[in-house]
Amino acid sequence: MKIIRSVAQMQKMMMRRAGKSLGFVPTMGALHAGHLSLIRRARTENDLVAVSIFVNPAQFGPREDYQRYPRPFAQDARLCRAAGVDYFFAPAAADMYPDGYATYTEVTHLSNVLCGASRPGHFRGVATVVAKLLNITAPDRAYLGIKDYQQVHIISRMVRDLNMPVKIVACPTVREPSGLALSSRNQFLSAEQKAGSAVIARALHHCRDLILSKKQRKSREIIQCMKRMITSIPGAKIDYVAVVDCQTLDPITVVGSVAAIVCAVRVGTTRLIDNIVVRSAVSR
Ligand code: PAJ
Repeated sequence: MKIIRSVAQMQKMMMRRAGKSLGFVPTMGALHAGHLSLIRRARTENDLVAVSIFVNPAQFGPREDYQRYPRPFAQDARLCRAAGVDYFFAPAAADMYPDGYATYTEVTHLSNVLCGASRPGHFRGVATVVAKLLNITAPDRAYLGIKDYQQVHIISRMVRDLNMPVKIVACPTVREPSGLALSSRNQFLSAEQKAGSAVIARALHHCRDLILSKKQRKSREIIQCMKRMITSIPGAKIDYVAVVDCQTLDPITVVGSVAAIVCAVRVGTTRLIDNIVVRSAVSR
């Protein structure tokens, strides 16, 4: 596995691939089994695999956790080597955003709702860094987790709108046995908070079952049910719960054949997000 710390070196290396296909997994490091599932998938579908580890300052708000975001570099490198990664790209912030940096990518509409509403500028930072990383690595496929539901939509839209020659592969959420979605931020939860946070996934499943069994189709009732369950988590503060259209992410009032339930919850100082797609049998 080659460890590359310079943007120019990575770009040069990626241009000399001799026709070999490349799968790319962008991450902010502190790798867990969720990231590794994307890497495994990339490994099976491509000749070469590149992983980036970059805690992107442009996607953190001034009062967010950029400084304390975990950076276990050696452990990440070890995990990638064991997973058969070919290129481990870990650029410095000053190399990605040198003095005088001035260009940003913004996917309008999709970026200002849900997580974007409480994290202004977040998705502008995400779209910008992913556009840069895709330009640097020029992969055939990029692997993203559905756990970050809005992020996958925004990046897919950006790739489509800007005619970027890459296929976005959306991968399922990897969870703890309790149902809690794996996240690099879960390590900030106390044991008690972690146990309590499993309610989020239980609530999503419960509400999906309510819809599929035709007991409930009204979004307002579904959101209320989600909120009731989530507020039982000690120290939980709901950021949002919404029932949305799977393409536009616009809120819907009555669930038809397909919808997504999405939510963000602050547990102590840790912000957790999760979602579930509800697809009725008729649309399968
Ligand atoms: P990060 O949070 O490190 O996540 C990197 C990728 O792993 C994302 O595509 C995310 O959706 C996926 N992922 C995270 N948890 C997962 C889980 N439990 N199961 C499956 N996949 C999971 O998302 C980012 O970094 C950044 O915003 C990034 C896209 C790298 C841009 O900076």
